[in-house]
Amino acid sequence: MSGVVPPAHCFTDAAAAQMERLVADFGRMYRERNDALQEVARAHHEALLRLARAAEFRDDDTGVHIVRMGWLAWALARELGMPESQALLLREAAPMHDVGKIGMPDAVLKKPGKLTPDERQVMNEHPRIGAEILGRSRIPLFQLAAEVALAHHERWDGSGYPSGLAGEAIPLSGRIVAVVDFFDALTMDRCYRKAFPDDVALEMLRAERGHAFDPRVVDAFLAAAPALLALRDRITRERPDLASLVASGP
Ligand SMILES: [Fe+2]
Ligand SMILES: [Fe+2]
Repeated sequence: MSGVVPPAHCFTDAAAAQMERLVADFGRMYRERNDALQEVARAHHEALLRLARAAEFRDDDTGVHIVRMGWLAWALARELGMPESQALLLREAAPMHDVGKIGMPDAVLKKPGKLTPDERQVMNEHPRIGAEILGRSRIPLFQLAAEVALAHHERWDGSGYPSGLAGEAIPLSGRIVAVVDFFDALTMDRCYRKAFPDDVALEMLRAERGHAFDPRVVDAFLAAAPALLALRDRITRERPDLASLVASGP
């Protein structure tokens, strides 16, 4: 029997080779798993952005407003010194600010004239509805998107809705998105009016400094206006897909 047992060094060599193969296999599986997880995260984020588009299509046929919102919020956040990782998250979250409009009746959402007090009350529910849609998740992006949805109509002076928060009690993400949304909405054609020229819209933004909006955020927007407007024009011209907002993983 002893003649068929290989010498001890053969065991060692075979074991070492097998161990090497195992390590290589584990390495490959680990990379594949990470790639798959990143792919799932991307799909997740894209699905959420498509939900944002569904809400936006009811208000803006082109849907390009929400793409601009993402890019401009990211650029403004960077101007304010927000770390890139957070700014990237905001780039994905900002387009979802009006997801709650899914719950708005057309008669209110598309009304050309001024809303009655009752209609206004219905309309003012869209931040809460949006936060409700987005907020029941532990995923940081969804939490940020819910924060933005809830806060984007709060005003620096405390007269906004739905909670009447003032100053820095309003999350910075909401203060940034509020400014970008105000400016972008003014400079696009709406069913009830034509777009305001950029210089008029910038003046209207300046007039709300310290009233509707955080003075620091307005100052950063005005200081970076040429670059922000160039970015906006590029997005309007090139119409990048929503997927362009999704940061590719680390
Ligand atoms: Fe809104
Ligand atoms: Fe908007």
